[in-house]
Amino acid sequence: MTAHPSASPGFDPTTVVAQLRAAGCVFAEDEARLLLAAARTPRALDALVRRRVAGEPLEHVLGWAEFRGLRIAVDPGVFVPRRRTELLAAEAVAVSRPGSVVVDMCCGSGAVAVAVGTAVPGVELHAADVDPAAVRCARRNVGPIGGLVHEGDLFAALPAGLRGRVGVLVANAPYVPTDAIATMPQEARDHEPRVALDGGHDGLDVQRRVAAGARSGWRPVVTC
Ligand SMILES: C[S@@+](CC[C@H](N)C(=O)[O-])C[C@H]1O[C@@H](n2cnc3c(N)ncnc32)[C@H](O)[C@@H]1O
Repeated sequence: MTAHPSASPGFDPTTVVAQLRAAGCVFAEDEARLLLAAARTPRALDALVRRRVAGEPLEHVLGWAEFRGLRIAVDPGVFVPRRRTELLAAEAVAVSRPGSVVVDMCCGSGAVAVAVGTAVPGVELHAADVDPAAVRCARRNVGPIGGLVHEGDLFAALPAGLRGRVGVLVANAPYVPTDAIATMPQEARDHEPRVALDGGHDGLDVQRRVAAGARSGWRPVVTC
């Protein structure tokens, strides 16, 4: 999207929709409704619309993303949870029981952890990420439902006491082949960190390391 300088939209939905549409937002009406609801003043609305028109992901502008009906805080610079990942969360929910130790590896904002912890009260919830910005964001989401978020490289982030106790390991790790990153939407390339996207030459480098770690010592009952 390209910047679209214009007058303040005030609280006029039609103007906001027109600005978003001119900037290439496909769901301009829906986005306008969310931005209008988020802004307390015309000046604040103007600032939000300008950020969106300049190409920031809607979720970064709003500060949250919807995931399985939950509102997940998403800070700038943190991977935006995708709706398609709700399927992965549903798989983790289906195999989790009260008392299960659940680990959301490569947690980003912690959306999957929050989805599992909310749907299955009583799980022991852990999440981990290598990116300090993701860890800060995940703590805001996972902390209030009693989960812990650890910082570090894959399993090295986890407390040693979890070894052999993990019931459910769920991971939406980076999966984009390095050469394909250039073909991703500009929103992702410009506003999501490379470490969240880059899965190496075939996109599976981090996934392979997660699978290897699961086999060698951590031995979760279920991996999804
Ligand atoms: C595709 S994003 C997914 C985030 C989250 N699971 C979700 O679905 O919204 C991948 C995440 O993996 C993290 N990550 C990448 N390499 C990692 C590593 N070696 N150890 C831990 N986390 C890593 C990134 O920081 C990023 O937050």
